[in-house]
Amino acid sequence: MAKKDVENEEKVEESKKEITIEDLPGVGEATAEKLRESGYDDIMTIAVASPKDLADISGIAEGAAIKIINAARKYADVGNFETGEEILKRRQEVIKLSTGSKNLDTLLGGGLETQSITEFFGEFGSGKTQIMLQLAVNATLPKEQGGLESDVLIIDTENTFRPERIIQMAKAKNLDPDETLKRIHVARAYNAHHQILLAEKAADVAKEFPIKLLIVDSLTSHFRSEYVGRGSLAERQQLLNKHMHDLLKFGTIYNAVIAVTNQVSANPAVFFGDPMTPIGGNIVGHTATFRIYLRKAKAGKRIARLIDSPYLPEGEAVIMISEDGISDGV
Ligand SMILES: Nc1ncnc2c1ncn2[C@@H]1O[C@H](COP(=O)(O)OP(=O)(O)OP(=O)(O)O)[C@@H](O)[C@H]1O
Ligand SMILES: [Mg+2]
Repeated sequence: MAKKDVENEEKVEESKKEITIEDLPGVGEATAEKLRESGYDDIMTIAVASPKDLADISGIAEGAAIKIINAARKYADVGNFETGEEILKRRQEVIKLSTGSKNLDTLLGGGLETQSITEFFGEFGSGKTQIMLQLAVNATLPKEQGGLESDVLIIDTENTFRPERIIQMAKAKNLDPDETLKRIHVARAYNAHHQILLAEKAADVAKEFPIKLLIVDSLTSHFRSEYVGRGSLAERQQLLNKHMHDLLKFGTIYNAVIAVTNQVSANPAVFFGDPMTPIGGNIVGHTATFRIYLRKAKAGKRIARLIDSPYLPEGEAVIMISEDGISDGV
């Protein structure tokens, strides 16, 4: 690269840092304040916002919001193309986290991947939370043992995190339970907006601790209970979409595993086969790279079914939930 180009690049880099939302056309002090209050506090957040959201929040017309978003997109450099080589390089950094069950790891091609979202869905008691707790313990293990040698962030929306259970699972892996608990950072999310905020703040925690596993248990429960009825469906899906993309962005930037749980509801339109469909519809389905459907079976066993994988065959694995955690259960 010529010296001049280097200088130019540096200038662009420099100007990127200095730009604040007030620099966007049509954003005065009052609008900037409203945007900041709603979490739209930097160029990137505005660049990926929807015009309607921005208009609603700041009280400006949708046309003006589109102009603001377009300007932000130019500054933020979003929508750039990557070469296949760059993507391959990023893919080569992917590491895999063991679930504790060899059967399930094999079904997933070696475990849960970093840079992707893996969704576990199923009825109450199907083992979603148990798997999340096991993943949290496993993430602290050395890589040779299927771990990520990392700390863990859990966004707990249902108050189902149990340190006692972590202690049981840690002991079963010959880990020091106190040390394990120290590496698991739990944030209780009180409502859907709080949950979204916590995901946005995950990056702050990752600056302080080596986080390579981010868990959201459950992804959809707040959204489901707060946005009831047809009228609020669009808003719910939009928020969920933003949330999923925040999670995926975290996974990509920090080379982290993102594991989320989701409930099911009976779909009255299904006449044949299993009518249980995951909550969140297409938004969740399209953003999660791996989806696993959990069903209860006899004697502590669960059947995990891999659905819609981009490159792995569909299939099932039997896993076991016991005092020691998740295993094949021989
Ligand atoms: N210490 C333990 N030993 C053996 N099995 C356990 C233990 N703790 C929990 N389980 C099993 O896990 C089940 C609970 O699963 P879990 O809480 O993961 O369900 P879930 O899918 O998260 O449900 P929900 O949708 O209600 O959140 C219990 O019913 C029990 O079968
Ligand atoms: Mg649960």
